[in-house]
Amino acid sequence: MFDLAGKRVLVTGASSGLGATLAEGLAERGAIVGICARRPDRLAEVLERVQAHSPDSRSWTVDLGDIDGLDAFATQVVGDLGGLDLLVNNAGIPKRRWAWAHRVDEVADVLRIDLHSPIALTQALLPALDASGGSVVFIGSVAARLGPPAEAVYAAAKAGITAYAEGLRVDLGVAGSPIGVHVVQPGVLATELFALPDNDPSISDIEPMDPGEIVGAVLDALDTGAMETFVPGWFRDLPPVKTGDLDGFLQGSVEYTRGRLGDLGQQLPARPAGGPPT
Ligand SMILES: NC(=O)c1ccc[n+]([C@@H]2O[C@H](COP(=O)([O-])OP(=O)(O)OC[C@H]3O[C@@H](n4cnc5c(N)ncnc54)[C@H](OP(=O)(O)O)[C@@H]3O)[C@@H](O)[C@H]2O)c1
Repeated sequence: MFDLAGKRVLVTGASSGLGATLAEGLAERGAIVGICARRPDRLAEVLERVQAHSPDSRSWTVDLGDIDGLDAFATQVVGDLGGLDLLVNNAGIPKRRWAWAHRVDEVADVLRIDLHSPIALTQALLPALDASGGSVVFIGSVAARLGPPAEAVYAAAKAGITAYAEGLRVDLGVAGSPIGVHVVQPGVLATELFALPDNDPSISDIEPMDPGEIVGAVLDALDTGAMETFVPGWFRDLPPVKTGDLDGFLQGSVEYTRGRLGDLGQQLPARPAGGPPT
C-alpha cells in the first residue's frame, strides 16, 4: 500500500463531503494534510478530526474561484507545509440543469470552479511536486465519460479536466518528470453536492455510495500508477460501449431518460423561444 507517512498533502474542497473524508483518511494513514475551502466553520470541524490523526495538519480559507489569487495561495501552501508530495484536486460545484436552460453565469461558474481552477492550481504547484517527486489526483466524475442527461456543462467540465490530466501526464512523461498524474471518476456519492440549491431535481436511480470508498481508490491509483479509476468499478465497462456505438449509446440514453422522467412524474422545463437564458 502507498506509504503516506509524513507525506505533505493538499486536499481542496475539504470542508465537507468527499474532501473531508479524503483528508481524514489520508491523515489516518500518516499524511500531513492541508485542507482548504471557503467555509471556515466547516473547515475547523474537519481540521479537528484530521489533527486527531496528524497534528501538523492545517487549513486555509480560500475561494478557489479567484483564479488570480491561486499563485499566491500555492506559494503559501508550499511554504506552510515545507513542500508538497500530493495534490488532490477535489473542490467542485454541481450543476444539474437541462442543457437549454443553463444560465450564462452558471456556465461560467461551473467551468471556473470545476475546470479552470484545478488546472491553474496544478500549474502553480508543479514545481513543488517536481521537487518532491509527488503526484496529482483529479477528482472527476463518471459524467466525464458518459454524456449524462441534465448535466451537460458539469460533464463538459469533468471531461475537460480528464483531458487536461491526460495531456499533463503525456507532457510530464516526455519531459522525464517524476510527477504522477491520476484521475478518479466517482459515480454518485452520498454528500451534500447535488442537494445544493439551484439544481434541477435528480433523475438518478443509482444508490449513492459512501465517499469513504474513494479513499481506497485514490491510494490504489497512487500504488499502481493507474491513470483513470472508476468507482464503482463497473462504470469502467461503459465508456468502451459508448465509443463502440456512440449514436446508439446516446439514443439509448434519450430513451432511458424519457422512461425515467415518466416514472418520476417529472416535467421538462420549457425550451426558450428566443435564445438562451441570461
Ligand atoms: N457527490 C457526487 O455524487 C459526486 C459524484 C462524482 C464526482 N463528485 C465530485 O467530488 C468532488 C467533491 O464533491 P462532494 O460530493 O464532496 O460535494 P461537497 O460536499 O459539496 O464538497 C464540495 C467541496 O468543494 C468546495 N468548494 C466549492 N466551491 C469552492 C470554491 N469556490 N473555493 C473553494 N472550495 C470550494 C466546498 O467547500 P466550500 O463550500 O466551503 O467552499 C466543498 O468543500 C467534486 O469535485 C465533485 O464534482 C461528486
